Amino acid sequence: MTEWTVDRMPDQHGRVAVVTGANSGLGLVTATELARRGAHVVLAVRDTAAGEQAALGIDGDTEVRELNLASLDSVRAFAAKLVADHPAIDLLVNNAGVVLLGQRRTSADGFELQFATNVLGHFALTGLLLDNLAAVREARVVGLSSITHKNAHLDFDDLMFERGYRAAAAYGRSKLATTVLGIELDRRLRSAGLPVVSVLAHPGLTRTNLTPRAWEHRGRLGQLIARLGLLATQSVERGALPQLYAATADGVRGGQFFGPAGLAETRGRVTEARLNRDAADPAIGRRLWAAAEELTDVSYL
Ligand SMILES: NC(=O)c1ccc[n+]([C@@H]2O[C@H](COP(=O)([O-])OP(=O)(O)OC[C@H]3O[C@@H](n4cnc5c(N)ncnc54)[C@H](OP(=O)(O)O)[C@@H]3O)[C@@H](O)[C@H]2O)c1
Repeated sequence: MTEWTVDRMPDQHGRVAVVTGANSGLGLVTATELARRGAHVVLAVRDTAAGEQAALGIDGDTEVRELNLASLDSVRAFAAKLVADHPAIDLLVNNAGVVLLGQRRTSADGFELQFATNVLGHFALTGLLLDNLAAVREARVVGLSSITHKNAHLDFDDLMFERGYRAAAAYGRSKLATTVLGIELDRRLRSAGLPVVSVLAHPGLTRTNLTPRAWEHRGRLGQLIARLGLLATQSVERGALPQLYAATADGVRGGQFFGPAGLAETRGRVTEARLNRDAADPAIGRRLWAAAEELTDVSYL
């Protein structure tokens, strides 16, 4: 793949794009670049004041809406208003995410908080927006994976990690689950014959608020460790390229997975990335899909 930059992004005028977690890091760059190329961008954020602040710095057509992915009530309320206001949605970038080190925490619905935010909130959101995505010629849904998904394993007997909780492993599992569901979504869209493309991307190691926030509970020492960790990361503008490519580049096919090409996929130009074997296993995909439907009470496809 020749080097892809935002200057090669196709024109986005006339397209409606929804970006979750658009007030910070990769989501903010994604929203900024989509708006710069002409898309109407919905900044889906849990803190609307932070969203409005972010929108001020974006040169283009944006709106800010409240969405807390760790609450299924919030996801339903957000989706109900959005589908009423935007009958056609061209792009959904399921970007928001948390890394939570320290003690196990739970969401408003009682789910492990990383799984709730990174996986279940986005699963429900995608289902609730699907009719409006299917109303356009070739809509895309982009899921945000991570290199941490590669060494993760799902435990179907304990998806909420109630036994032997390890925070970093829970994050890796949440990213594996995101990846499994993105590939399963592609399978289901194809068999339903719907004109929606499900793709995945990961940003390698990118300098954002993600790890400094994860270390907040460890005070000054934690911030020092987080800052040292950031030395090995690439810029957020570069880190956002795989998801922008997945979202907009010509010729992207459902089920593809993009990430950085260099240093064990941690940095560099966009290329096709390697999937964990479990992520491509249809039996695991079917099983996790059924679990996600049951947990969220949102069924589709
Ligand atoms: N940075 C990396 O190296 C890296 C590597 C692999 C994958 N990723 C993935 O990239 C995505 C973006 O992360 P980032 O690195 O850009 O981190 P970030 O700067 O911390 O941004 C995360 C975004 O997610 C939002 N968010 C968190 N919990 C939410 C919730 N319950 N409801 C709605 N929004 C919520 C945050 O909102 P607030 O500002 O209100 O908290 C923020 O806008 C995540 O999915 C992450 O897992 C990042």
